Amino acid sequence: MPKKAKITVHPAFAIGEISPRLYGSFLEPIGTMVNGTMYNPKHPTADDKGFRRDFIDALRETPIPAIRLPGGNFVSGWDWKDSIGPKENRKVHLDLAWHQVIPNDVGHDEYLQWTELIGCEPLYTINLGTGNLNDAMAITEYTNYPGGTYWSDLRRKNGHEDPYGVKLWYLGNEMDGPWQIASWERDPKGYGILANETSKAMKWIDGNIETAVCVSSSPFLPHYPQWDLEVLQECYESVDYVSMHHYHSCPPGDFGALLGGAVYYEDYINTEIGLCDFVQTKCRSPKKMMLSFDEYGSMCRPLDPIQYGAQPHSLYASHYVFNPDRKFVLHDPDKMGMDGPPGMFTQGDMINALGNASVLLTFLRHADRVKVGCMTGGLGALATATRDQIWRSASYYPFVQLMNWGRGTSMRVSVDCDTFDLPGFAVDTNQQNATREGLPFVDAAAALSEDGSELNIFVINRNWDSDQTLELDVSGFEGWTLTEHLRMFSEDIDARNSFEEPDKIKPEVDPATTMENGKVSANLKSLSWNVFRFKK
Ligand code: AHR
Repeated sequence: MPKKAKITVHPAFAIGEISPRLYGSFLEPIGTMVNGTMYNPKHPTADDKGFRRDFIDALRETPIPAIRLPGGNFVSGWDWKDSIGPKENRKVHLDLAWHQVIPNDVGHDEYLQWTELIGCEPLYTINLGTGNLNDAMAITEYTNYPGGTYWSDLRRKNGHEDPYGVKLWYLGNEMDGPWQIASWERDPKGYGILANETSKAMKWIDGNIETAVCVSSSPFLPHYPQWDLEVLQECYESVDYVSMHHYHSCPPGDFGALLGGAVYYEDYINTEIGLCDFVQTKCRSPKKMMLSFDEYGSMCRPLDPIQYGAQPHSLYASHYVFNPDRKFVLHDPDKMGMDGPPGMFTQGDMINALGNASVLLTFLRHADRVKVGCMTGGLGALATATRDQIWRSASYYPFVQLMNWGRGTSMRVSVDCDTFDLPGFAVDTNQQNATREGLPFVDAAAALSEDGSELNIFVINRNWDSDQTLELDVSGFEGWTLTEHLRMFSEDIDARNSFEEPDKIKPEVDPATTMENGKVSANLKSLSWNVFRFKK
């Protein structure tokens, strides 16, 4: 028997302006994501720089707004200066973050020129692990200064006459993480001071840029949120965003734990907003800090055994295990397996799609403060690639629909429906999720287009064993009509799109949905993604 849900959206209740950067992706040279999918000079579609045109073309077909690069943990040991100029002079280095050999064939200029080819904005992370203030000044001058100085002229000599104009710069990556090369975990104040000085100097070189400072890279870390507070107190006035990361995992097949996981993102966002506003008041500052959620992902994965008696600090201890047999790997771009969204090999496409979409709906509901979102595995979601093939996973559809229609103003959604409880669970010793009660089965967010002529309401039915009947009340939008109800679900929850069967899972119009007197009646399939589109 389908359950009943009610959603109301009213024109008087807006949350805030949606930044197009909410729908970005994250890229890091791990495995073959860069050396293989992005770059393979032996590929039949390779251009004169060795970039795979088939991958570029697939991404160009999407309205992807931004990509955060070049990492990730990798960047904390990377010297960008060794990656510029003629390829024969570039330096081959070890990457301690991922135990790889980095040939630097893809260097600073290649990353930026690749985003130019895709037509999206690069969100650039500098090295504040082994890197210093001088490197940060040099990279800003090389990248954004027009010419007539050593670094800017070097850029011109290396083939890029015009400044790249990178706008948003990340002041390191996960600088609190004990796994980070040159971590600042034990010295938040020191990192906050460095971030402040770096941001200040970079902005003196280019007054148009924005900067983002790292806060705790996971709410599981025992120093969260105190670390964040100590950092922010040192640099509140000079930075524009806090850089947040979170990966949510749950046991395979536990769809409540997967989709209910959005609540942990919500908690993290709310705490960080509270913290930023506290520091704003402390600093008597007129400035509101914005949030950049520049790495996220939700996945099912096998549980690791809990080490009984282990303290949260075991997370730190695990980084002091030195394996004498571990080898550094040089990835041959021409010999790659399949890249894709995290968890892709352990769960069906529909589950991947719903996991990440539920995080995006959380961001949308906080669009007044969350201004950047970068999906880890987002590029794989948009264009799943092997050495020879590219296709669209089911994740492509909600992601692109949100890029296209989740724009303008985020509108408040009132949801009234049955709820479920999420018993606390541990993924491993370090990732222990607290119990949450009363989570609505129906998850929703809404966007009113910039010109006020279109309303799109995005709805997930998180109920894993039942459809829901839905009454969607938009009667406050007088005279508006329903254009279509698009829905996506899969009878076979383990099914995946593939090169051979690219359309196994994709959105379709539900012809049974009706609208009368401003109220829509629809059926929401179990574990489905839905978009209700209205026009004036
Ligand atoms: O995406 C993989 C890693 O996850 C990134 O390098 C790091 O920033 C995070 O811990």
